[in-house]
Amino acid sequence: MEKIQIGRTELTVNPLGLGTNKIGGYNLFPNLNDETGKKVVQTAIDQGIEMIDTAFMYGLGHSEELIGEVLQKNDRHKVIVATKGAQQVAPDGSVTLNNTPEFLTKSVDESLKRLQTDYLDIFYIHFPDQDTPKAEAVGALQRLREAGKLRAIGVSNFNLDQVKEADADGYVDLVENQYNLLQQDAVKELVPYLNEQHISFVPYEPFAAALLTGRYSPENLPHFEEGDHRLNIDLYKPDQLKANVTKVEKLKPIASKYDATVAQLVLAWYLKNPVIGPVIPGARTPEQLLANLQSESLQLSDSDYTAIEQIFA
Ligand SMILES: NC(=O)c1ccc[n+]([C@@H]2O[C@H](COP(=O)([O-])OP(=O)(O)OC[C@H]3O[C@@H](n4cnc5c(N)ncnc54)[C@H](OP(=O)(O)O)[C@@H]3O)[C@@H](O)[C@H]2O)c1
Repeated sequence: MEKIQIGRTELTVNPLGLGTNKIGGYNLFPNLNDETGKKVVQTAIDQGIEMIDTAFMYGLGHSEELIGEVLQKNDRHKVIVATKGAQQVAPDGSVTLNNTPEFLTKSVDESLKRLQTDYLDIFYIHFPDQDTPKAEAVGALQRLREAGKLRAIGVSNFNLDQVKEADADGYVDLVENQYNLLQQDAVKELVPYLNEQHISFVPYEPFAAALLTGRYSPENLPHFEEGDHRLNIDLYKPDQLKANVTKVEKLKPIASKYDATVAQLVLAWYLKNPVIGPVIPGARTPEQLLANLQSESLQLSDSDYTAIEQIFA
C-alpha cells in the first residue's frame, strides 16, 4: 500500500499499524500473556507492519519492555516506534497528569531504556495536564528532537483548541484521538483543521475496542471480565449497546460480498478514508493480527464505501 507521510516530517509509514494496549497492558485488561504479546509484535514486524503504538500507561512500562525485547531481535530501523507519556505514578499508586518539560524529558529517557533503543520515532503527550502551557510542553519535545532522541512529536486526547495551542510553533506532527465508525466526533472540526495544517491524524480504537469486529449480535452481546476497561466505555453501556450492535449488523451483508469479515471491511474503510492517517488496530493474538492484515487487499468499491458511511451517519 502507498505509504503515508507523518506530519511535516520526512518519515513515511505503512497505513496499517499495530496497537499494543493488549501487549503487557495488565492494568487495563485481565488475562494477558507476555509470550503471546511478544509473538504478536514479532508477527507484525515479519508481516511488514511498521507503526507499533505503545505507551507507558500500558502496563506502567511493561508493554514498552516487551516491545523492547522483540526490537532487540529485529532490524530496529524497520519499525516506527510510537510511545506516549504524561502519567506520573505516586508511591501509593495514584496517577496524575504531568506535561512539564522536566517530566516529559524524564519520560522520554525512561521509554528509551524500556524500549532498548536510542531514539523514538514518535513521542506523544498522552493526555493534556491542567497547568503546563502546551507550547512549552511541546517545546521540550522539540529540544529532544534536536538532540536526536525522537523524530516526530504528537499529542493525544487534545481537543482542537488545545492542539492549536500546542502547535503554536509548528512542532506538532501527529494527533492521536478516539475515532471509529461509531464515534465520529473528531472528523467534525478537529480533522479538517489537521488536514489543513499537514498534521497526521491517528485514530485510536478503530474497532471501538471490539464492537466493530462483527463478533457480536443482538442475541450475543459482549460480556467482559472484571478488570476489563471496556466495562467503562459509553458505547458498551446497556442503553447504547444494542443500538450499536444493530448498526454493525448491517455491515455483515456488505462484508460477505467481499468474502471478508466485518473487521476486515471496517479496516478497509479506514484505509480508503482520505482524511485519516495510519490505523492502529489492537490485536490480542497473532491470529487476530493476521486476519486484520487481509484488509490491505480488500478493494472496497466507492459505492460500498458510501453505503458504510451512511449506516453510521
Ligand atoms: N491515545 C490513547 O489515549 C489511546 C486510547 C486507546 C487506545 N489507544 C491505542 O489504540 C490501539 C487500538 O485501540 P484498542 O486496541 O483499544 O481497540 P480496537 O483496536 O478498537 O480493538 C481491539 C480489539 O478488537 C478485537 N479484535 C482485534 N482484531 C480482531 C479480529 N481480527 N477478530 C476479532 N476480534 C478482533 C480484540 O478484542 P479482544 O481483546 O476482546 O479479543 C482486540 O483487543 C490500542 O492498542 C492503543 O495502542 C490509544
